[in-house]
Amino acid sequence: MYVLAPSILSANFARLGEEVVNVIAAGADWIHFDVMDNHYVPNLTIGPLVCEAIRPLTEAPIDVHLMVKPVDRIVPDFARAGANIITFHPEASEHVDRTLALIRENGCRAGLVFNPATPLDHLDYIMDKLDLILLMSVNPGFGGQQFIPSTLTKLQAVRARIDTYQRDSGRRIRLEVDGGVKVDNIAAIARAGADAFVAGSAVYGAGRDSDPNRYDSIVAALRAQLENP
Ligand code: DX5
Ligand code: ZN
Repeated sequence: MYVLAPSILSANFARLGEEVVNVIAAGADWIHFDVMDNHYVPNLTIGPLVCEAIRPLTEAPIDVHLMVKPVDRIVPDFARAGANIITFHPEASEHVDRTLALIRENGCRAGLVFNPATPLDHLDYIMDKLDLILLMSVNPGFGGQQFIPSTLTKLQAVRARIDTYQRDSGRRIRLEVDGGVKVDNIAAIARAGADAFVAGSAVYGAGRDSDPNRYDSIVAALRAQLENP
C-alpha cells in the first residue's frame, strides 16, 4: 500500500552501488533518482549513465525525478537506462501533454511534479495520462530542507481528485511527496493522502550516523509510523 522511495541524492556517491543495494535490502521499495541540470534548478547531479550503472544492481523500480529543462530530449535516454517511472515539472516542458505521452511511449510510468507554489490546474486535463502525481514539499534543488506545512492541505486536495478519478476510471494513480519527509512527520503526510514517500537525508543520513551499511532501523521506523497513520 505505502511506498518508501529513498532518494540517492543523500547517498555516498563514492559507494553508490552498495548504497542502492543496502537500502533495498533494508526494505525500501523504490530508488528515487534526482536529476538536476543547474538550469531549471540551481544544482547539478546525475544522468542516464548513472541510472544505467545502478540498473543491474536491483529489481526495485527506479523513480526518475527530472528537474531539467527542456525535458523531452532526455526521456528516451532514461528509458533506455532502465528507468521505470519518469516525472517532470510542468514549468520545464513546453507541451506537458506531449511529454507525458512520450514517457509512456518509451515504456515508463509517467508523473507530473508540482512545486510548492504551482497550482494544480493541469490536473483538470491530464489525469488519464498520469500514473503518479508528485507534490514537492520543499523547493526543488537540494536535499535536507524543511518540510513546507502547506503541502498537507495541497495533498488533501490532490487525494480528493485522485479518489474521484479512481472511482470513475478504475485506474490507480499514486500520490508521492518529496522533501523533508522524516519519522516525525510521515504519519501526518500519510493522513493527508500520500501513499508514496521520498526520503533522502532522513534515510541516508541516519545510516551514515550509525552503521553506514545498515538502513534497516530507519526504514523500519518510517514503516512503523505508517502502520497506523
Ligand atoms: C529535492 C529532491 C528530493 C531530495 C529530498 O529537490 O527532489 O528528492 O533528495 O531530500 P530530503 O528527503 O533530504 O528532503
Ligand atoms: Zn526528488
